[in-house]
Amino acid sequence: MTSTIAVVGTGYVGLTTGACFSKLGHDVICADIVPEKIDSLKRGEIPIHEAGLEEIVREGIDSGKLTFVLGAENAVSNADFVYLCVPTPQGADGSADLTYLQAAARQISAKLQPGTIVVNKSTVPVGSTHLVERALGRSDIPVVSNPEFLREGTAVDDFLNPDRVVIGSDDQAAAGRVAALYLGVRAPIMVTDPASAETCKYAANAFLATKLSFTNAIAAVCEAVGADVNDVLLGMGYDHRIGHEFLRPGPGWGGSCFPKDAKAIISIAEDAGYDFSLMRGVVAVNEEQFERIVRKVESVADIDGATVAMLGLAFKAGTDDVRESPSLEIARRLIAKGATVCGYDPAVKSLNMEGLEVVDDAYAACEGAVALVVATEWDDFKWLDLDKIGDSMAARNVVDARNLLDRGALRRRGFTYQGVGRS
Ligand code: UDX
Repeated sequence: MTSTIAVVGTGYVGLTTGACFSKLGHDVICADIVPEKIDSLKRGEIPIHEAGLEEIVREGIDSGKLTFVLGAENAVSNADFVYLCVPTPQGADGSADLTYLQAAARQISAKLQPGTIVVNKSTVPVGSTHLVERALGRSDIPVVSNPEFLREGTAVDDFLNPDRVVIGSDDQAAAGRVAALYLGVRAPIMVTDPASAETCKYAANAFLATKLSFTNAIAAVCEAVGADVNDVLLGMGYDHRIGHEFLRPGPGWGGSCFPKDAKAIISIAEDAGYDFSLMRGVVAVNEEQFERIVRKVESVADIDGATVAMLGLAFKAGTDDVRESPSLEIARRLIAKGATVCGYDPAVKSLNMEGLEVVDDAYAACEGAVALVVATEWDDFKWLDLDKIGDSMAARNVVDARNLLDRGALRRRGFTYQGVGRS
């Protein structure tokens, strides 16, 4: 059955949600408060780097199933469902800032037809479904939680082929109607209460962040005892209770979700009277990981007044997103110690950070550098001409924070090589 869906907020989550619902056959109107963004979206130009998204946005526009409008109040009056996909940034105390969410709810309230279902897709603290109900101030509008589990870079595929769909509501009929929106999707759909759905999102991200910090901690142990982390993780991952996914050591985790959600769940727990010390440890291990990479650079080169090359600026490969990027966190620390960082990323073309110069070629980034840091796992970096890099560097030092390069090939060419968790 085709429904009319309004999506408030055309950021990463909103645009993916809107475009994918139109792909599933629904009529979708996406709203945003930024006029230039709406203008370019109407032309089918999307502001983010996301595999397959531009194609389905254009398909939606051409078929008339996807439209864009300025202002949430102009999108919702004929909607059967309104998806709230506005940002919930981290507030000063680590908790999520819900100003945008409340403002959006207030803005649309008077325009909604009775029976329209408002759905929270933004990651929100436990209790926010009720907070939106209060901001709407309408007893005839059910509010449902339907958290997203989208990974950047594979968001379209994650939406259309999810591991699960989680719906939280005290109103079973409303939950059933939201579940019906996903009829074209083959995945378990679970309905629970709002607090459980909201907690599920945080718990999933907190667990993944824990797995990553654990992996990086095991890498540190491997370095100390002379073990090879790749083999250790392979041996662990064959145990199907553990699995191979999310066991890649790296420079620390980042992005728009993990750091914010990890801190938020600590703060949610604290407010509820539970000291989530495990999670505080997970965050602390991540901070240490940035520092461990910096120390590896310092162990081979005097960086004060020198240039350090950085390959990869995005928080992971496949995206141009630099929010909470470990690369930038490491760059910032190197710059604070007197280095100039020359960075290259296949998807990030400019950045505003004092001491960091962004160039448009990997070889240019390495020129005159005393050390090269591989910070993002872009495949392109595997195939670089190592002789050409070595010839242009001031000293042949590589710190490979993603265990991406061929360490034998580098060492044969006289480079020092340090990976993560292996010698
Ligand atoms: C994440 C969750 O995966 C997603 O379910 C949630 O809804 C939003 O947050 P995303 O932010 O796109 O998605 O990033 P993800 O692919 O999970 O990676 C997060 C960070 O962990 C990145 O910095 C990445 O480089 C790092 N990472 C990931 C590792 O260091 N090793 C790994 O094995 C996997």
